[in-house]
Amino acid sequence: MIGTDVFKITKTKNSKLASLDMDRLPFGRYFTDHMLEVDYENGAWGEVSIKPYQPISFDPSLAAIHYGQAIFEGVKAYKNKAGEVFIFRPEDNFKRFNISAERMEMPTVPEEIFMEGMKQLVKVDEAWIPEKHDYSLYIRPFMFATDEAIGVRPSLTYKFMIILSPTGPYYSEPMRIYAEEKYVRAVPGGVGFAKNAGNYGSSLYPSAEAKRKGYDQVLWMDAFEHKYVQECGTMNVFFIIGNTAITPSLNEGTILAGVTRDSVIELLKELGLNVEERRLSMDEIVEAYKKGTLREVFGTGTAATISPIKELAYKDFVMKFDVDKWTVAPDVKKRMSDIKEGNVEDSFGWLVKV
Ligand code: COI
Repeated sequence: MIGTDVFKITKTKNSKLASLDMDRLPFGRYFTDHMLEVDYENGAWGEVSIKPYQPISFDPSLAAIHYGQAIFEGVKAYKNKAGEVFIFRPEDNFKRFNISAERMEMPTVPEEIFMEGMKQLVKVDEAWIPEKHDYSLYIRPFMFATDEAIGVRPSLTYKFMIILSPTGPYYSEPMRIYAEEKYVRAVPGGVGFAKNAGNYGSSLYPSAEAKRKGYDQVLWMDAFEHKYVQECGTMNVFFIIGNTAITPSLNEGTILAGVTRDSVIELLKELGLNVEERRLSMDEIVEAYKKGTLREVFGTGTAATISPIKELAYKDFVMKFDVDKWTVAPDVKKRMSDIKEGNVEDSFGWLVKV
């Protein structure tokens, strides 16, 4: 058991906070005054330090930048009207982080370092938590291989860090999405369920291609038949058909087990919808659209929260939605914000007090 005494806290004498415009915060552009850092060597994690935010230096042979042994998480902290600070479902991110670590042949991070470290860091920088609606403090835990050697093998040393970014919404407008038939994100047996850096790096070219065609993001499909939906850019995806919400199941290991996805499933059930986690083909989606039963399509994610999709293109067929008439996604989004911002009781026990 690691006690809080292993946390060495050094505070900055030069806070950057006064120079920040808290009403205009693009996603992931600004970082708080402090960061958490701890190294793994000789099979053990060392002293955890919370210190002024600063660059890190490394040798050009650093293993992570050659072979991609790097994983991360995304978590959010909020401040309620009484000034109390909460983190949304951090234990779920902690568990998923270590699932990613195992898949990438990296050491797991002890719960005390991940959870207690996150709480202590958020506490140190709590003045940076935006209080504006839809804004939050985005928490980015990450770990990467630090061996200085270019042989292809698991590193023996690693660095775990947490940085914080006060932020506004990731997608500010309803999205136009392109169902991707050529490029694939994940295959059964691959790393689709892990939050490793490479999954994001390899998505950039297809996403840029989609942008060149006038779309915001891609909807990924299965690698074999190119017709079963997986996930969408940086989000899980939900389709409301009649009174049923359908989202791709996690069974094939090709989809990220989103914490927001899981929360939205609970909130949809609370709203009285049937929820199905299963295989869903583009043919079924197009058929429902043509019949008029496909009511809403939206993405979910920590950064994206709940993002409506106003246009979905598959082959030459374009499905368009009048987002302003929707009820389900706005209701779920409001309920979620109310819980996160402390306007209603957290009946699910999702908030962890700092
Ligand atoms: C998140 O939603 O937290 C993500 O990690 C997605 C993206 C910003 C990479």
